[in-house]
Amino acid sequence: MKTVTTPREARRAIDEIKKAGARVGLVPTMGALHEGHASLVRMARARTEFVVASIFVNPRQFGPKEDLSRYPRTLEADRRMLEDLGCDLLFHPNDADLYSPADRTRISVEGISDVLCGAARRDHFQGVALVVAKLFNIIGPDAAFFGQKDAQQALVIQRMAADLDIPVTILLGPTVREADGLAMSSRNRYLDPESRSKAPAMYAALASARRRIEAGERDPAPLAAMMTGTMRAAGFDVEYAGAVDGATLEPLERMAGTVLLACAGRIGGTRLIDNVTLRVSGAKVEEIVLEFPEWSRYV
Ligand code: PAF
Repeated sequence: MKTVTTPREARRAIDEIKKAGARVGLVPTMGALHEGHASLVRMARARTEFVVASIFVNPRQFGPKEDLSRYPRTLEADRRMLEDLGCDLLFHPNDADLYSPADRTRISVEGISDVLCGAARRDHFQGVALVVAKLFNIIGPDAAFFGQKDAQQALVIQRMAADLDIPVTILLGPTVREADGLAMSSRNRYLDPESRSKAPAMYAALASARRRIEAGERDPAPLAAMMTGTMRAAGFDVEYAGAVDGATLEPLERMAGTVLLACAGRIGGTRLIDNVTLRVSGAKVEEIVLEFPEWSRYV
């Protein structure tokens, strides 16, 4: 696996591959890779001929009081994992490789960026949209792979790519969970043993909401109350918990169509998020991974 650090080097490596007719898959990451990232690299490997992973801890998506300086950086272990997974190219720029002090362009995906995680993390999705647009422009992937765990992020990225006519297909991989249900996340490394033992309550709340929907509940209000209560009882400081429309992220009056059960909260100071996405059609309820229309170039 080759490693490149500048956009120019990355373009040069990829131009050659594209001339040879290979489709390029991109797995954007901030490093501290875990099995969730590995599953996305495997997906990319199965669907495209040339797999690029990026590792960049993007300062623009962290608020002033957030964890940018302590975000885990584990480059050598990440590199070994990507090599073992058969990744072809690692793009690992530093801040100055991607951002100029003179830059003035911002990308704001309105509405869906302002709710759920965007309500508490102002400008977070603007930072995500900007860096992902830059990665799409530098790498020019046919397909890009993201985790269902960050469903809102995926919706923002899909909207940004569609609105800017960026010819990339966005594909999501299912959330990968620890044996006790906790969604894998680079931030799980922050959890002390006590918080780690309580953290699975977040998925327990989602799983219990899902069971109640399967049993016929269609009113979102009691489910939101139950999810909040379950998380609080375990010690979470709950940021949000409830059901929203899986396409617009607007509150639902009744459970029908694509339903995103989503929650965020802090346990022992660590902020965690998770979701379960359901397709509810009459009495039928099935868990799904969000899907977006394919860009025509990708087959
Ligand atoms: O999900 C992440 O790791 C980041 O938000 C992303 C998509 C790599 C952008 O920095």
